[in-house]
Amino acid sequence: MKEIAHDRVLVTGGAGFLGSHLCDRLIAEGCDVVCVDNYFTGTKRNIEHLFGHPRFELLRHDVTFPLYVEVDQIYNLACPASPVHYQHDPVQTTKTSVHGAINMLGLAKRVKARIFQASTSEVYGDPEVHPQPESYWGRVNPIGVRSCYDEGKRCAETLFFDYHRQHKLRIKVARIFNTYGPRMHPRDGRVVSNFIVQALQNQPITLYGDGLQTRSFCYVDDLIEGIVRLMKTGDAFTGPVNLGNATEFTVAELARLVLELTNSRSKIIHERLPADDPRQRKPDLTLAQSALDWSPKTPLVEGLTRTIAYFESQLSKAVEYRETLLAAAL
Ligand SMILES: NC(=O)c1ccc[n+]([C@@H]2O[C@H](COP(=O)([O-])OP(=O)(O)OC[C@H]3O[C@@H](n4cnc5c(N)ncnc54)[C@H](O)[C@@H]3O)[C@@H](O)[C@H]2O)c1
Repeated sequence: MKEIAHDRVLVTGGAGFLGSHLCDRLIAEGCDVVCVDNYFTGTKRNIEHLFGHPRFELLRHDVTFPLYVEVDQIYNLACPASPVHYQHDPVQTTKTSVHGAINMLGLAKRVKARIFQASTSEVYGDPEVHPQPESYWGRVNPIGVRSCYDEGKRCAETLFFDYHRQHKLRIKVARIFNTYGPRMHPRDGRVVSNFIVQALQNQPITLYGDGLQTRSFCYVDDLIEGIVRLMKTGDAFTGPVNLGNATEFTVAELARLVLELTNSRSKIIHERLPADDPRQRKPDLTLAQSALDWSPKTPLVEGLTRTIAYFESQLSKAVEYRETLLAAAL
């Protein structure tokens, strides 16, 4: 595998959950990192520890507008990833995926950069094939409330492969499955952060449907390792390649594990399943194993323990902040 040290690397969505961990990893590898974000769901807090680092630069920019920077590699992660956020402004979500891809691909073409796309397991929709291999074309509702995200990401993949075929761009496409870890947004409605925040506050844990729908959860460090390995593959390898964890848990099992690890007094309550919520989601990781020599390593209990510690520290900071405000008001 080639070394990427000292490359100039653009990370879009770099102030988000995955993007901030990717910035950390690239800085640690010796790259010059240009982090771009419009702070829609990301926050400067995720990257504040990098401020002042001589190889880190931060730009407030919306990827739906063109960007001109001299870089060797582009990691395109900009896009809200959780249903509450991407459904908040669905037109903007599609624009971010589609116009964002066009702008970043145009930049990659101009500066001859290698370019990575953070695609998603959502391109498989509500799948009839289980687990999902990359050859599966998916079952996506084109007009549903999740379509702005699913179809936006599918169109972005199309654009990546057309730029590759038409303009010989060096592309790398990963289909990312459910990933969790520190710096997830506490109120993004995703199942891991939801359960942890509810459990830590001893609030009821909300299970959608019967809770028997399964999910597979990948810890963030494992995912970042997969992404970086993918970027280092030879030009002939484009993906798409699934990255995630194939160990399945029911959502109810996850809830019980979170309750146990947080020593919570929360009760489990049931609510109606949201529209187009997939019953099962599990990656076929055969390609990732053979092409990247990669598989996830972090057991769920270990990853959850680290994530719980992160949310605990965030919640105690929020309490301190509220107390400071109250004290100042007295
Ligand atoms: N976390 C997961 O489980 C998961 C799964 C599949 C795919 N992905 C993909 O990975 C990427 C990162 O996801 P994440 O979980 O870190 O989500 P996130 O919401 O934490 O990060 C997305 C980042 O993109 C930024 N952004 C959004 N719109 C933008 C725009 N128009 N211009 C510039 N910046 C913009 C946000 O402010 C945020 O910092 C996304 O593309 C997402 O679709 C994530």
